Amino acid sequence: MPIQSAYELLNRSLIYHQGRPVGTAAACDESVVAANYNECFVRDFVPSALVFLMTDRHEIVRNFLETVMHLSGHQHVMKGHKRSMGLMPASFHVVTENGEEKVITDFGDRAIGRVTPVDSAMWWMILLRAYVVTTGDRTFAEREDVQRCISHILDLYLRERFESSPTLLVPDAAFMIDRRMAVYGYPLEIQALYYGMLLAARELLVDTESNKKIIGDLTAISNALVEHLQHYYWIDRKRFNQMHRFESEQFGRDVVNVLNVYPESIPGWMDGWLDARSGYMVGNVGPGRIDFRFFAQGNLLSILFGITTGEQAQRVMNLYLNHWDELVGEMPVKILYPAMVGEKWRFSTGSDPKNVPYSYHNGGNWPVLLWPFVTAAVRVGRLELAEQALNIMTKRLKNDNWPEYYDGRRGDLVGRRANFFQIWSATGLIIANEVLDNPESCALLDKALINGLTEGGN
Ligand code: GLC
Repeated sequence: MPIQSAYELLNRSLIYHQGRPVGTAAACDESVVAANYNECFVRDFVPSALVFLMTDRHEIVRNFLETVMHLSGHQHVMKGHKRSMGLMPASFHVVTENGEEKVITDFGDRAIGRVTPVDSAMWWMILLRAYVVTTGDRTFAEREDVQRCISHILDLYLRERFESSPTLLVPDAAFMIDRRMAVYGYPLEIQALYYGMLLAARELLVDTESNKKIIGDLTAISNALVEHLQHYYWIDRKRFNQMHRFESEQFGRDVVNVLNVYPESIPGWMDGWLDARSGYMVGNVGPGRIDFRFFAQGNLLSILFGITTGEQAQRVMNLYLNHWDELVGEMPVKILYPAMVGEKWRFSTGSDPKNVPYSYHNGGNWPVLLWPFVTAAVRVGRLELAEQALNIMTKRLKNDNWPEYYDGRRGDLVGRRANFFQIWSATGLIIANEVLDNPESCALLDKALINGLTEGGN
């Protein structure tokens, strides 16, 4: 009964504040060495929230949205900077001091490596919309404090800085991959979330004079963003061939190789990787730089939020089919492919022993990624792939005690430093199972994450 024990684990992970459940811990592993896995991470709570929305436990999601909103609504001074009110914490937990409960946050001020959680506010906004469309509780989103919070987020994320493209520039490790992994710049996962967040915000903002301008701005950015991602990130045989023959050092407005990418920088593993029917979004794009690595979450969210066209989504699924052993293997789904090895690993990760090749963020297999995989596959009618992935996982995950990630090229080894009883591994399985087994849940998730959002996206 893997599903039943996944639910039990989820219930065990609930975190309470003033008697109300407000979140879920990242893991319920008693033996855990990492100090912060007992905290509620915003990104880890998202699949928990989707389960709660599917099972009529909406109030937990609402409590969470309120709690995180209050946590971000204070201005703190951090090392001389006034922290922006639109920034949301990576995680929080509740402690009791002298009989009083206190919520302790981590905005990157306590995190290993002091990493900034750029994705938190994006997930918060996407979740707020999911809550509103599934419950019909628009009054909550229209409350003055919630509208103020939305404005603070947009103020931060739409702020003009040094931009020459609609994509969002972020530091290394600003999202699920929260360690040095050469993901600085314009990583796909952040761009996909950014797009999802802007569309969600457009629906959530109430119709006022001052919001008209904000809605105009965010519509312009989201349109430009999807066009940019289509042009610069999408790669298939045709585009690859064009890159293979790129001329460089082109100056001026009407040039082909806009970013001055040298064809010599194309990695050897790309040779033969794409067949005539596959394609995907590359991991990162910047001046003189294309990161050709395949990042699962960024590609799957691009399908869910309608950044890819219908045909492109099929091509991504064809890529999964062609490279099943490398991208899924024995535990769905690999976080990225291929891993960085040797000198590249040394330079790019700072010799991080947790991120050695084919482990953890550097090409480990993460059970949580089953839910976006299955949801995306079902959405584009590739049921056979969704079912195959779910079957592989169902056989193993519970017996292995719900590890956080798996190691190895085929993802067949329990991660060397993985936590056990990791909540998003369990919720990943619950969601995938619900999507495939229960048409009502499938429709609900479709509505929560996709419907309406994609208008104009394709
Ligand atoms: C690790 C993961 C991060 C996750 C956290 C809690 O730091 O990289 O994505 O949010 O663990 O599970």
